[in-house]
Amino acid sequence: MDNSCRKLIFNIYIGFYCSAIILPQMCICSYFSTPSIDQFNKDAGTFPVATNGQPFPWHELRLPTVVTPLHYDLFVHPNLTSLDFVASEKIEVLVRDATQFIILHSTDLEITNATLQSEEDVRYRKPGKKLTVLSYPAHQQIALLVPEKLMADLRYYVTIDFQAKLADGFEGFYKSTYRTLGGETRTIAVTDFEPTQARMAFPCFDEPLFKASFSIKIRRESRHIALSNMPKVKTIELEGGLLEDHFETTVKMSTYLVAYIVCDFNSVSGTSSSGVKVSVYASPDKWSQTHYALEASLKLLDFYENYFDINYPLPKLDLVAIPDFESGAMENWGLITYRETSLLFDPKTSSVSDKLWVTKVVAHELAHQWFGNLVTMEWWNDIWLNEGFATYMELISANATYPELELDNYFLDLCFEVIKRDSLNSSRPISNQVETPTQIKEMFDTVSYKKGACILNMLKDFLSEEKFQKGIINYLKKFSYGNAKNDDLWSSLSNSCLEGDFTSGGFCYSDSKTTSNTLAFLEENMEVKEMMTTWTLQKGIPLVVVKQEGRSLRLQQERFLSGVFKEDPEWRALQERYLWHIPLTYSTSSSDAIHRHILKSKTDTLDLPEKTSWVKFNVDSNGYYIVHYEGHGWDQLITQLNQNHTLLRPKDRIGLIHDAFQLVSAGRLTLDKALDLTRYLQHETNIPALLKGLEYLETFYHMMDRRNISDVTENLKHYFLRYFKPVIDTQSWSDEGSVWDRMLRSVLLKLACYLNHAPCIRKATQLFSQWMESGGKLNIPTDVLKIVYSVGAQTTAGWNYLLKQYELSVSGAEKNKILYALSTSKHEEKLMKLIELGMEGKVIKTQDLAALLHAIARNPEGQQLAWNFVRENWTELLKKFGLGSFPMRMIISGTTAHFSSKDELQEVKLFFEFLKAQGSHLDVFQIVLETISKNIKWLEKNLPTLRTWLLASI
Ligand code: BES
Ligand code: ZN
Repeated sequence: MDNSCRKLIFNIYIGFYCSAIILPQMCICSYFSTPSIDQFNKDAGTFPVATNGQPFPWHELRLPTVVTPLHYDLFVHPNLTSLDFVASEKIEVLVRDATQFIILHSTDLEITNATLQSEEDVRYRKPGKKLTVLSYPAHQQIALLVPEKLMADLRYYVTIDFQAKLADGFEGFYKSTYRTLGGETRTIAVTDFEPTQARMAFPCFDEPLFKASFSIKIRRESRHIALSNMPKVKTIELEGGLLEDHFETTVKMSTYLVAYIVCDFNSVSGTSSSGVKVSVYASPDKWSQTHYALEASLKLLDFYENYFDINYPLPKLDLVAIPDFESGAMENWGLITYRETSLLFDPKTSSVSDKLWVTKVVAHELAHQWFGNLVTMEWWNDIWLNEGFATYMELISANATYPELELDNYFLDLCFEVIKRDSLNSSRPISNQVETPTQIKEMFDTVSYKKGACILNMLKDFLSEEKFQKGIINYLKKFSYGNAKNDDLWSSLSNSCLEGDFTSGGFCYSDSKTTSNTLAFLEENMEVKEMMTTWTLQKGIPLVVVKQEGRSLRLQQERFLSGVFKEDPEWRALQERYLWHIPLTYSTSSSDAIHRHILKSKTDTLDLPEKTSWVKFNVDSNGYYIVHYEGHGWDQLITQLNQNHTLLRPKDRIGLIHDAFQLVSAGRLTLDKALDLTRYLQHETNIPALLKGLEYLETFYHMMDRRNISDVTENLKHYFLRYFKPVIDTQSWSDEGSVWDRMLRSVLLKLACYLNHAPCIRKATQLFSQWMESGGKLNIPTDVLKIVYSVGAQTTAGWNYLLKQYELSVSGAEKNKILYALSTSKHEEKLMKLIELGMEGKVIKTQDLAALLHAIARNPEGQQLAWNFVRENWTELLKKFGLGSFPMRMIISGTTAHFSSKDELQEVKLFFEFLKAQGSHLDVFQIVLETISKNIKWLEKNLPTLRTWLLASI
């Protein structure tokens, strides 16, 4: 198609789009055409109003594309005493169509001067022409009005001087403080920009598509160091003793990845196989906790360079532990920032699960250096291309570099977790239209991260490991330093021919039958895109219903909904128009070969080569679907588990436990059947399977405990203590064994002590007293540390002592364990004291407030307290964290989603309505309401069954 023809079709499309929207005048500023200044003056009445009362020449939240940035020279001088910064920038822009204004993002920056130079002006060193600056805070935009029209296809240079206070929260260019062992409080300045906060630090084109290079200069005092994305080229000494660091120019990148820090931290360094200098920084007293992260990042960097077949493009990579950090970590290119507990590992107090967490976060942020930094999604609607991939690569890379962590067991749980959310009607598709900063922030949720990762895992299983890897290498190479969307990924993945395969019509075919069964499917001309869009553009998860009739398997797919039963009137409407292309896998009792079939229609039939007693679908739980076996299907599987569970693979056993309890929530399986399935666990030696069964018992216990249904809690306790006695009794109070031995120990002993199991309490009390007597010096095994502290926190003396140690500890891992222990107290006034300390933000940092409220709400004695507190202090909380931010969403769901009565539902509903009336709206409101309704329904239906089953079982 020639260009003019393309343009015509494009214009027709835009025209159609414009006439379809409600406010036609909005289309004057369609995203692709800029109004002329005459037009602007004529229609001024229809434009937004800038802060000075003048019309602001741009309506939309998205920036126009007529002016694009090529390069930023950025100078920043933060003052860590007066807590503000002065800065200036010179942006080189390319004008694509003649225009009389430039629209940029800028939030809360005081602009003191703005000028414009043409290329000629720069060449002849002519001073810039002064620009008029208009500001439209509702869209976080400024408009620079130029005296003469900017000409198409020319470059210009915009210079802006500006200043602001260092931000109070966790966004933009903000201050963070820490206390030294000597008791001194020190301040550092640090940036955190994703998704839309670069505009708080410097005026910029703050959308991921506007990639440019950056040359950064930071002025600082000599007691500090400055870090940025690139290595330092030189330092200039200025009069008065200040120093100015100049950093190398970056590669082309999006604004949200720019970073700089002024601090007084120390580091450890190493060099990767390819010669990249990797350093881990922390505040001086925490320097000794940086070594594990250095080892892990070096290994992981080597792994990724090989796996992606693309070298990390920068000469250095810094990982920095920031004392105040809102999320877990941020992948700024070359300067990754972490919450201290996501990076630092203290051998004395960090447990095996802390190690797993640090490894995962380091692996995640390193994966972003390719997925996200090198190739970026075009817009935030596809943020899963960053986060889903980074989450999936955690598994691939950590399995290769730290196989002893057996991270694939962890991965299963990750998929199960998002299934909970995705089986509610309030879920959303992975790709979702978003516009406002709050909507964009809400995209960083479990759907983007976890569902994204799980469908990639399913796709890898379908394509084969080799083709998947080849496909993502194609994708990364093709879109390096650029942007991509879903379809770009799918086409790269469906064109991943291996050597020896031959291509026809853009697809790979193979004449070698040996590589994998999947090749047969490619011969059916299966298109990856056609399949994958059913997973990314549609919300929810499918349920595959299997009915065995002799040698025939009748298959049916529907949308799986927990909390809505098939007999409910709304069920049918909720099913409409849902259809997935499901790459099914199955094995049977007669052979453990893996069979494959793509279910593309609502119903289908499969013929088995021979009659078998059972079939098990979703081999190794690699698929993102739930399976229900009708007729005698479940009974046959339960019989097999009891006779010889090892005939089913460990991950299949875990999958069966999971699916059975999910089906209970959907009213498709009775609770006693699911519980009967778990009876085989007394012979189970696979720890993740054991933990899965235990998790459900624990969930039921907590649900009953919160509602004070004491006969059931008592019986559950007896059942657990009797049933798991042999394994509980063999647990040692140590850090010995494999990773999963250690996980099991932590979970079992925690539950045993929580249920007041006398030997557990005795041992924990003894260790706690010894620890107190030693002045907190005694080393308690890290895997039982939290348990010992929690038992200790039940007396006032123990609680007070723990709080004192909390203040003194320099280990984030230990502090988290102490804070959790403190939150399990049964005394409301102690819990209230914690909340007050968290609100004050000194002893308990604001960054830990959301987790604290969540922990208190988990405690039956604290649930009401936490919920009331959130309602009464909403405005204060909102000042600390933004509306769509992760902590705010965690506070809301953490203090409400466990409710299970109609009165509680009503209370929560009223509160959300009040918030909505105030203009605050979040997706999480609907998720919470549906979750509570689901809990109510679960109890109504299953409490009697649970009661009877327990009576028969103890
Ligand atoms: N890119 C995110 C950081 C982020 C989170 C930015 C939310 C904007 C909003 C980073 O890569 C990330 O995903 N961090 C995770 C940790 C990770 C191991 C799951 C986080 O902060 O929770
Ligand atoms: Zn991420």
